[in-house]
Amino acid sequence: MKLLIDDANINLIKELYDYYPLDGVTTNPSILAKSGRAPYEVLTEIRAFIGEEADLHVQAISRKAEDMIEEAKVIVERLGKNTFVKIPAISEGFKAMKALAAQGVKVTATAIYTPMQGYLAAKCGASYAAPYVNRIDNMGYDGIQVAKDIHDIFLKNGFQTSLLAASFKNSQQVLELCKYGVGAATVGLDVIKAFVNNPAITSAVEAFITDFEKLAGTGNTMLNI
Ligand code: E4P
Repeated sequence: MKLLIDDANINLIKELYDYYPLDGVTTNPSILAKSGRAPYEVLTEIRAFIGEEADLHVQAISRKAEDMIEEAKVIVERLGKNTFVKIPAISEGFKAMKALAAQGVKVTATAIYTPMQGYLAAKCGASYAAPYVNRIDNMGYDGIQVAKDIHDIFLKNGFQTSLLAASFKNSQQVLELCKYGVGAATVGLDVIKAFVNNPAITSAVEAFITDFEKLAGTGNTMLNI
């Protein structure tokens, strides 16, 4: 499962990349608005930092298919070939997805709340489909199950589309989909940190250091004894 950061804060992206094995960055219009910066300015910085091979997902804003298509081309032109254009999985979006996929533009179908949206996106040739796990949970449905259903639909129908599970609020949600073998998950800072945020882990590591220092002296490591 690929692991991406769902944020557009360049400092935070740099910090997380320093520590964790990450495959790219996803953004949406609300995430860009939160950054408070000019969209292409921050996205160009993110692209320069993650490199041209990493995945960057950027959403088209237009309402009509024809405009989404034009917008998508400019997004890829300005941010590089490994930029996936996020297109909402609505009627106008499906029309745009078909055209863009036919022209070799990589598409991530977004705002997915139902398995049938995932199915249609795959038939349109989207590279990824992004179900909003936590938002679905908050509507009283089972976000994990919706994500699993879409993953199964892709496998059983021989689609090349992968799942890009999104909208996570805790590490258990991510774990469930990791165990299921979905293609990718995009998560925010708090959720990534929560993967290993456990007092038992910290205390086990500290106990090893304390025992070693009792043996070899405070501050010593295997480097200098
Ligand atoms: C992906 O980028 C989605 O837009 C995002 O994960 C939605 O997350 P939210 O439900 O926390 O806003």
